[in-house]
This record gives sequence, C-alpha cells and structure tokens, in this order.
Amino acid sequence: MSVSAPGEDVSGFLARHWQRPLAAQGEAPAHFSPQEAALGAAACGGCHPDQHRDWSASLHARAMGPGVLGQLVDMAPDAREEHQACIRCHAPLAEQAADLSAALAGQASTDLHLQGNTCAACHVREHRRFGPARRGGSVPKPEDKLPHDGWQAAAAFADARFCASCHQFEQDDFALNGKLLENTYEEWRASPAAREGKTCQSCHMPGRRHLWRGVHDPEMVKSGVTVTALPPRIEDNAVLAGLTLANTGTGHHFPTYVTPRVVMEMFQAGADGRPLAGTRQAFIVARQVAPDLSREIADTRIAPGAEARLDYRRPLHARAVRLDSRVRVEPDAFYTDFYRSLLAGGAGKGDKMIRRALADSLASHFLIFEESQSLRDGGARP
Ligand code: HEC
Ligand code: HEC
Ligand code: HEC
Ligand code: HEC
Ligand code: HEC
Repeated sequence: MSVSAPGEDVSGFLARHWQRPLAAQGEAPAHFSPQEAALGAAACGGCHPDQHRDWSASLHARAMGPGVLGQLVDMAPDAREEHQACIRCHAPLAEQAADLSAALAGQASTDLHLQGNTCAACHVREHRRFGPARRGGSVPKPEDKLPHDGWQAAAAFADARFCASCHQFEQDDFALNGKLLENTYEEWRASPAAREGKTCQSCHMPGRRHLWRGVHDPEMVKSGVTVTALPPRIEDNAVLAGLTLANTGTGHHFPTYVTPRVVMEMFQAGADGRPLAGTRQAFIVARQVAPDLSREIADTRIAPGAEARLDYRRPLHARAVRLDSRVRVEPDAFYTDFYRSLLAGGAGKGDKMIRRALADSLASHFLIFEESQSLRDGGARP
C-alpha cells in the first residue's frame, strides 16, 4: 500500500480506503501492546480523549441504534450480503460484520458492531493508522517512535469526497422521481460553499472536532438558515402576513435528506396565547416520500441561496390579539411514519427496538424560530 503524499490522487486513495466490503485488518504487528492492537473506540480514547469525547456524543457513534438494529435482527445470521446493504455505512469494519453475525446467531460477541461508525472505520486499515497531516502541516518521520507505528498522512481526510463514501449514492443507486435518494455531495458541489472552498469538514468538523452536528442540533440548523416574519397587515378584515426561510449557510439543500421535515406555521392567538381555530396556515419544507419508498410525494427543500415563503391570509378572528410564527424541525419525520408502518405489518424480533426508535423519533422535535406580532396595534389597522 502506498504512502499518500501531497499531490496524491485523492480518489485513488479513497477507492482503496473504502473498497466495500472492507477487508479484515488481519493480525496486529507482534510488538503492538493490546491497547494498540484493539480496534474499539475505548482503546483509542485512552490516548485520544478529545476525539473520543466528541465522537461519543455524535450520531456516528449511534449509527447502530434501535432503528437500524431493529431491522437487522430479522435478517439471517449468515446473510452477510444483506447485512452489508446497511452496515457498509452504519458499521463498516469487517470485524463489525463478523461481530454482528455472531450476535445474531446468539454466539459470544463483543460490542464492536454496536459502536456504529467507529474510529477505526475511518482511520485504520491493516492495523495501520491514516489521518490528516498535523495542524502545522508536518507528518511523522520514520525515526519517530510513535504508538501504533505512527500514521500515514492522507490529503483525503480534508476532502469532501471522504464523506461522500457514505453520504452520496452512486449514479446507479436507488433514485425516486429521477433524483438519487442521497445526493449530498453533488448538492454541495453545486453550492456557493464549494466555490468558496468550504468543505463538509469546515462546517461539520470545525477545528477538526468530531461532533458532526447536523439536523438534530438546533444551533447547527440555525447557523444554516435565516428566518424572517413579515409584519402583519389587516385588510378587509383579513390578516395578511408572510414568513420566509432562506438557506443562507447550509452547504447543500436544506435539508439534504428525505428524513427531516421542517414546518413553517402562522396562526392567530387569543389573550391566553392559544391558537384560534381556523386561523392556522403552514408550509412544509421537505423531500416527502412514501414510507415504502415507492414514490416521491413532494420536494420543497431549499437549495443554497434560495428561500421558501409562507404567504399568510386568513380572516381576522374576533378574539385574536396577536399573530404567532413558528418554524419547527422534525429531524426524523420519515422514520416516524416508516416505523409506524413497520409495526403495523409486524416488526418481528425487532419489535421492541422499533418501538423505542419510534419514541426517539417523536422526541427529537425542536423550534428554531418563534415570534409573536401584535394584531391590536393601532398602526397596523386600516
Ligand atoms: C497508546 C496510545 C495510543 C493509542 C491506543 C492510539 N493512538 Fe493514535 N496516536 C497516538 C499518538 C501519540 C499519535 C501521534 C500524534 C502526532 O504525532 O502528532 C497518534 C496518531 C494518530 C492519528 C494521526 C493523527 C493526525 O494528526 O493525523 C490517528 C488518525 C490516530 N492516532 C488514530 C487512532 C485510532 C483510530 C486508535 C484506535 C483504533 C488509536 N489512534 C489508538 C497514540 C495512540
Ligand atoms: C462509513 C460511513 C460514513 C462516513 C465515512 C461518514 N458518515 Fe456521516 N453518517 C453516517 C451514518 C450512517 C449516519 C447516520 C447515523 C445514525 O443516525 O444512524 C451519519 C450521520 C452524519 C451526520 C448527522 C446527521 C444528522 O441527522 O444530524 C452528519 C452531520 C454527518 N454524518 C457528516 C459527515 C461528514 C462531514 C463526514 C466526512 C468527514 C461523514 N459524515 C462521513 C455514515 C458516514
Ligand atoms: C449509503 C450509506 C447508507 C446505507 C447503505 C444505509 N444507510 Fe441508513 N443512514 C445513512 C445516513 C447518512 C443516515 C442519516 C441521515 C438520514 O437519517 O437519512 C441514515 C439513517 C438511518 C436510520 C435513522 C437513524 C437511526 O440510526 O435510527 C435508520 C433506521 C437507517 N439509516 C437504517 C438503515 C438500514 C436498515 C439500512 C439497510 C437496509 C441502511 N440504513 C442503509 C446512510 C446509509
Ligand atoms: C466518519 C469518519 C471519522 C470517524 C468515525 C473518526 N474520525 Fe478522526 N478524523 C476524521 C477526519 C475526516 C479527520 C480530519 C478532519 C480535518 O482535516 O478537518 C480526522 C482527524 C482525526 C485526528 C487528528 C486530529 C487533529 O486535531 O489533528 C485524530 C487524532 C483522530 N481523527 C482520531 C479519531 C478517533 C480517536 C476517533 C474515534 C473516537 C475518530 N477519529 C473517529 C474522520 C473520522
Ligand atoms: C456551509 C456549511 C455546510 C457545508 C459545506 C456542508 N454542510 Fe451539511 N449541514 C450544514 C447545516 C447548517 C446543516 C443543518 C441543516 C440541514 O439539516 O440542512 C447540515 C446538515 C447536514 C446533514 C443532516 C441531514 C439533513 O437532512 O440535512 C448531513 C448528513 C450533512 N449535513 C452532511 C454534509 C456533507 C456530507 C457535506 C459535504 C458534501 C456537507 N454536509 C457540507 C452545513 C453544511
């Protein structure tokens, strides 16, 4: 295997690095301590505590949660190809595949497969470490006596294509309505962020942090959009107003996947703050697809630089004192519907896990915008 150097062909490196299914690491060098030979995240964390702390809080560490495992437990223990269709992204190491098969067969196993997208999945091949050059640009010298025989620097770690290996479908992968189900890298390539040299890592691993915050994180979502509530007017006893949501800082469609749903809504409220019947109007930002992926229902995602707009027009309610605007993010909306239909048809051995995943998917909602505007200001009335 060649050492990658500046100028090395990134795509060549990545084709080897992510050749699926990943090859087994093989025997660790005899002089490795048990800690250096171990592939689990806890062993790495002993010497890389910052990355371990961040990663543990990330969704990459939870990529084998109940929603995924609840589906895998209904596959035969030796159906390795069927497992690969999921774990090639969710738990890609060969050692995780072996561990999963053993666990499904009720044999002794470690928890390696439960670690999901673990450190070694991105950094270790044949027991050799690969990583970016040091922050100052230097790389280890052969005479350096470093743990795990040092590491090989690869430019690919700072390249958006590194992430594309799981966040971008291939041209002949599953598509709906002529569009790939996962197209994040191509969306990014067409974005102003790419032209400005902002990679996936710049936004999702700032300062090389291993948090990968995304649509489940309110602050991250707020950093990517600008929401504006236009002041209401009253005309002919109707309330007219608007709410805009612009993709001003997301380096791909907002949101990029079919899974989240973002609800923009406006309604009139009485003195007690409660919504008044018949006054609500909403606009959904999402790529909505059927739970069985048989069709696309609508695609209202917002491309970088574009905006969505809710034009509000409803009769003024007799008890209305204000107009409320909200933007709610439901990061797992697709899965909520998907788990419900899975449970309706019988989720088999995974039943308990799928029920937990359903509860989790309902608990992840949050608001990124909330504003009240008075409807009783003299100024706004004719
Ligand atoms: C016994 C301590 C120890 C253990 C265990 C350990 N590492 Fe390291 N690792 C180091 C040291 C020390 C360096 C060298 C840092 C330097 O030279 O700047 C390093 C370097 C690295 C680098 C290169 C960092 C860069 O700047 O690109 C990566 C990646 C890495 N380790 C990953 C891992 C992973 C993944 C594991 C677990 C499978 C692991 N390490 C286990 C001590 C350890
Ligand atoms: C081995 C496959 C793999 C690689 C490589 C990978 N990811 Fe992921 N990523 C996943 C999976 C699987 C999930 C979903 C985890 C879950 O929730 O089950 C995910 C989740 C995420 C999320 C969280 C999304 C959310 O819903 O909030 C972000 C952000 C993310 N990845 C960014 C990146 C970036 C940036 C890179 C490149 C540095 C990268 N990923 C590399 C597989 C991968
Ligand atoms: C090409 C990579 C890839 C493959 C293959 C893949 N996933 Fe995912 N999966 C992702 C990413 C990225 C996310 C996070 C974004 C999202 O929610 O769509 C995710 C999210 C999920 C989630 C919701 C988050 C969670 O952890 O509960 C479930 C459930 C899931 N995948 C199950 C599966 C199953 C089952 C398979 C196999 C049939 C599979 N995936 C195949 C990349 C992949
Ligand atoms: C999804 C892939 C992925 C996973 C999982 C992952 N890393 Fe990384 N890691 C990266 C990337 C990409 C970079 C380089 C980021 C950059 O250059 O901006 C990196 C950088 C590093 C560095 C160099 C940090 C520095 O400050 O110079 C170390 C050390 C490291 N990772 C260790 C780990 C450890 C330990 C784990 C598990 C606890 C882990 N990584 C999990 C992708 C990953
Ligand atoms: C300019 C900053 C920026 C860049 C560049 C960027 N992202 Fe994002 N990303 C965001 C923000 C902000 C969010 C949260 C809003 C959202 O979900 O779209 C996000 C969300 C996500 C999510 C959550 C799932 C979803 O449906 O939105 C994933 C996965 C993701 N990004 C992966 C990537 C990958 C892979 C790349 C590179 C090809 C990338 N991002 C480039 C800012 C960025």
